Amino acid sequence: MEKIVVKGGYKLNGEVNISSAKNSVLPIIAASILCGDRCTIDNAPMLEDVFVICDVLKSIGADISIDKEHSKININTGTIISQAEPSSELVRKMRASFLIMGPMLSRFGRVKLSLPGGCNIGSRPIDLHLKGLNALGAKIDLGHGYVEAISKKLIGNKIYLDFPSVGATENIMMAAVLAEGETIIENSAEEPEIEDLADFLNGIGAKIEGAGTGTIKIKGVKDLNGTLHRPIYDRIEAGTYMVAAAITGSKIKINGIDEEHLKPIVAKLTECGVLMEIEGNSVWVDGRNEIKPLDIKTMPYPGFPTDMQPQMMGLLCIAEGTSLITETVFENRFMHISEMKRMGANIKIDGRSAVIEGVKRLTGSEVKATDLRAGAAMILCGLSAEGITEISDIYHVDRGYVQIEEKLRKLGAEIKRVY
Ligand code: EPU
Repeated sequence: MEKIVVKGGYKLNGEVNISSAKNSVLPIIAASILCGDRCTIDNAPMLEDVFVICDVLKSIGADISIDKEHSKININTGTIISQAEPSSELVRKMRASFLIMGPMLSRFGRVKLSLPGGCNIGSRPIDLHLKGLNALGAKIDLGHGYVEAISKKLIGNKIYLDFPSVGATENIMMAAVLAEGETIIENSAEEPEIEDLADFLNGIGAKIEGAGTGTIKIKGVKDLNGTLHRPIYDRIEAGTYMVAAAITGSKIKINGIDEEHLKPIVAKLTECGVLMEIEGNSVWVDGRNEIKPLDIKTMPYPGFPTDMQPQMMGLLCIAEGTSLITETVFENRFMHISEMKRMGANIKIDGRSAVIEGVKRLTGSEVKATDLRAGAAMILCGLSAEGITEISDIYHVDRGYVQIEEKLRKLGAEIKRVY
């Protein structure tokens, strides 16, 4: 079984380059279905999740070539067969596959998909996606293990989301691109990845305004074309390396950031004593001060991202005092706590909150990556711990971090993968 082995206690130094955002690229690849033309994604992150969504599109006839050396993906969705049903095995593999629902329905008037399974961070229903598509005129049939949506013609409508779900906002926005008339999504998710998706969609000829705010307006169009798109930087990958500097008491430079997107992460790290100096698209992170305890509540953007919660918890395990983390976005995103406790962390769970009593130092141990961000957090804990940490189930981490051990090794970490 593949494992990552980290020998803790080494200071980091030097620079690290951030890749493009996985959570931008997945919906963008799905969105390319809409145009039935050729699209190129430049500087695409070469990640397992990206390969899976490409395979989903290939399973319905898209012609895709991935140039790993130049991080480029060429997609021709003109070859998709209109009534094709995507491979259920692939769709079940990754929740983000569900993002092809809106584009398929909008372009072909029908789509049948396997239901995405539950996952380690919660049940993650799709009711808001379906409610939105239904409001645009789709007839939804929820069967055993699948969902089918049919509509001769989608018609624009006003949709209020009960919760600003990222995926539901994306699916509805994509479905509305070819709908007749205007769609307004209220209480839409405001994540930077939504804005990036809208930029891509406008690039293929859509008419979208307000993405990145709580109200998105989409004027339906009839024709779309191909485009070339370069996605935004991955703010969660950048945040993870910021914590790497802090947890090892080091100073490093992170290249490939957007200051605006990192505000909630920078604010919290600054509060716990980490010094930051932003220079254009780079940031110097100086984590050589003592780490002060913090209270964090995860929230939809621009609140503190749930995708940084496990990594911050790792850092607070060695803070000088008691911290409180409340997870409000997912109901079960504390699986990493039992792994951190194996390393000597002092954490108590009280409902959706975790109370973290800082300890002087963590101790290397055998732990598991229980999901993607939890896996990253365990690597971070391993970097600061005394002794050797072995992290198994590392495939979770490969879903979302480009060459994590290479990047950390270049910064001076003692980290390797064993098979
Ligand atoms: N929800 C519903 N009904 C729905 C949709 C969502 O109740 O129809 C609930 C979920 O169960 C969850 C909350 O709303 O409790 C937030 O879910 P959301 O739909 O916003 O998340 P997502 O689209 O499934 C994306 C990211 C996640 C990230 C969340 C929140 C992608 C591919 N995934 O998921 O990324 O945690 O937004 O920011 O964009 C990760 O990268 O590690 C990751 C899990």
